[in-house]
Amino acid sequence: MLFDLRPKRRREEIFDREKEFEELEKSLNTYPLTLILGIRRVGKSSILQAYLNENPGILIDCRELYAESGHLTKEDLIKELQSKAGLLEKITSKFKISLDLKFMTMEPRESSLREVFKELNKIGEELGRFVIAFDEAQYLRFYGSRGGKELLTLFAYAYDNLPNLRLILTGSEIGLLHDFLDITNYESPLYGRPVGEIIVEPFNRETSFEFLKHGFKEAGAEISEEEIKKAVGLLDGVPGWLVTFGVEYLKDKDFEKAIQRTFKIARGLVIGELKELERRSPRYVEILTAIALGYSRWSLIRDYLRVRGDRIPEPRLYTLLENLKKMSWIIEENETYKIADPVVATVLRGK
Ligand SMILES: Nc1ncnc2c1ncn2[C@@H]1O[C@H](COP(=O)(O)OP(=O)(O)OP(=O)(O)O)[C@@H](O)[C@H]1O
Ligand SMILES: [Mg+2]
Repeated sequence: MLFDLRPKRRREEIFDREKEFEELEKSLNTYPLTLILGIRRVGKSSILQAYLNENPGILIDCRELYAESGHLTKEDLIKELQSKAGLLEKITSKFKISLDLKFMTMEPRESSLREVFKELNKIGEELGRFVIAFDEAQYLRFYGSRGGKELLTLFAYAYDNLPNLRLILTGSEIGLLHDFLDITNYESPLYGRPVGEIIVEPFNRETSFEFLKHGFKEAGAEISEEEIKKAVGLLDGVPGWLVTFGVEYLKDKDFEKAIQRTFKIARGLVIGELKELERRSPRYVEILTAIALGYSRWSLIRDYLRVRGDRIPEPRLYTLLENLKKMSWIIEENETYKIADPVVATVLRGK
């Protein structure tokens, strides 16, 4: 069912990501570590979960783990892996192998992630390979007290010594994930190790149109092509918003209401994310609002802030814009900034 708000779990439920699945397969054949990158609601988790539904592996949702306690520890990660006992049993019985996984019954405090990785590599030895996936891996920088360095050391160890393990990291704050991995820095544990990268882009207009058309057909609902075109014109190509529109339209088949409700839902979600951002610096939201309103160049954004009484020092504005790029809120092209997701831009304009 295309119009289902949860991340998809099966490949046949996923629309038009053949190229990404192929790239993922290729990357896993080539690199011990693969990144799946893309802005929020574009479909990263869906691709990952559908892949893991067909291939042996385990998934850790770092955003959720971090949200539970505000930090990440070795015990958190090991407990999370232990909670997947049922899944691991399913995998081993599906492939008719029996393995005695010691970490499953050990006290997390007394166990080490390196030992866990080694044991999972053993499953990989039996099955060809085993995937450990970390969804929203930029949160791993909150692991331990050294910005996640211990985990990078572990990843580097796995990269070099555990040939039957594959690591997949997804990230919606793309620059932050790159900063965390820090592969080009010779002081980083992962220095110099090539990684595969799959970038999940929003759909183009045509695919968005087909996506909605397919979704409505599947749900047995009538809607005119004009209305679908209009919806795509307003929502653009982030699948998460297209699905929301589809679900809302199916409720009472009223186009205007469905669009309004979609933006209301979007506003709720985006405002929540903006609040989170505001806690880091209230200036972020001001800058984003300026960009959404069309103040798209550096000097225009500076002037927008000045008119509003904020004489921001220029290096500070530079840093904040760089951070917004790293968090994938904005895109810079030819010294012009724009909001990465048009629905977010609409929400910012109407805030
Ligand atoms: N290719 C697709 N086909 C069908 N549905 C999709 C597709 N991509 C995304 N979706 C739907 O869009 C929504 C967002 O997808 P998903 O959660 O996988 O994205 P995400 O990139 O992981 O988002 P987030 O950054 O918020 O975690 C879900 O409702 C999902 O079902
Ligand atoms: Mg996700």
